[in-house]
Amino acid sequence: MSAPDELLRYRSQFPILERTNYMISNSLGAMPKAVYGALQGFADTWATRGVRAWEERWWMLALEVANDLGALMNAPENSVSIHQNVTTCEAVVASCFDFTGKRNKVVYSDMNFPSVMYFWEAQRSYGAQVHMVKTDDGITVPIERMLEAIDEQTLIVPISHVIFRSAYIQDAKAIIEKAHKVGAYVVLDTFQSLGTVPVDVQALNVDFACGGVLKWLCGGPGVAYLYVRPDLGKRVQPKFTGWFGHENAFEFAIGPTRYAETPYRFMNGTTQIATIEAAHPGIKIIREVGIDKIREKSKRMTSRLIELADGHGWRVNSPRAAEQRGGTVSIDMPDSQQVSRELLAREVIVDWRPKAGVRFSPHFYNTDEEVESAIAAVADILKSRAVIA
Ligand SMILES: Cc1ncc(COP(=O)(O)O)c(C=O)c1O
Repeated sequence: MSAPDELLRYRSQFPILERTNYMISNSLGAMPKAVYGALQGFADTWATRGVRAWEERWWMLALEVANDLGALMNAPENSVSIHQNVTTCEAVVASCFDFTGKRNKVVYSDMNFPSVMYFWEAQRSYGAQVHMVKTDDGITVPIERMLEAIDEQTLIVPISHVIFRSAYIQDAKAIIEKAHKVGAYVVLDTFQSLGTVPVDVQALNVDFACGGVLKWLCGGPGVAYLYVRPDLGKRVQPKFTGWFGHENAFEFAIGPTRYAETPYRFMNGTTQIATIEAAHPGIKIIREVGIDKIREKSKRMTSRLIELADGHGWRVNSPRAAEQRGGTVSIDMPDSQQVSRELLAREVIVDWRPKAGVRFSPHFYNTDEEVESAIAAVADILKSRAVIA
């Protein structure tokens, strides 16, 4: 008999697990029960303290949550700032650079999340030369072509740590080393890694890292984080700036900004306090559980998903080697989009993406039985569809 799964003790903290087979943490992690209290606390503070809430709690809240997030990726204190979404983080980074000079090339892959692609493509109008490295198999990014594309003209390399479509883990270290060798910077999108795959920004020596909290960190929509390597953080000056980024916001000084120390330096307008309050419980739980334990369990469950899919002869659109795979397994069975809709109707919560299929993303709070029953539900749906046909 295998040892009891100690991570299941956290299940009771996530109400939706009582009602559904929740396999979609790659899209929206389950809400911790403590979010009710966090949002009630936000409303109480606003209602009873009014404007004094800024001084007493809200002004420093972004920093507190950012440092908790930073601890999850081994970021030094005060190197992470809070933003609304990843696209905004990329915009803050882009605004630190000038694309009118000779070094103006942006290298990324077509496996990046589309919002990130749309943002960098739009920088062409500021002079950026955009180079897209294409996938061969719809699962991986060809590392040789990626490294080759990063040359002396390259300024920025915005890449995903874990690819959203396939859960392929890119060799971020090799890409960062090549970029540094030629004098380029890397923006690592850790949205699909942080919370399920170990991330160590110092070991990677990455320049910028950003992601959101709503997936594997169970933090809800509205909060993203941006890590800037501390030595860079002292030097670069974001042109996308605002009064939160000023060294003395309450001076209300006229004219050009005087940049604050990190991480406020990378912020701009008023922070989104309610969503930051809502994000905190999930981040704390993930810290308490520990990424290593989450990763170990994730590898076990995703390996089993692949085994089961193989047993049915369905196409697996995620890497087979656990070391190259994040927390999701994309499976393309016949009529996969229709199957995903029927799974939802049966309270098996998954999603479907073109060129990927149905994405199954178990997290630390799922049981091994849920993995088995999700796949059994697919088999049952396909069987009943065959009967109807
Ligand atoms: C890798 C990755 N990057 C970015 C995003 C989203 O970007 P944004 O926070 O700008 O909506 C997602 C998914 O929502 C994603 O999977």
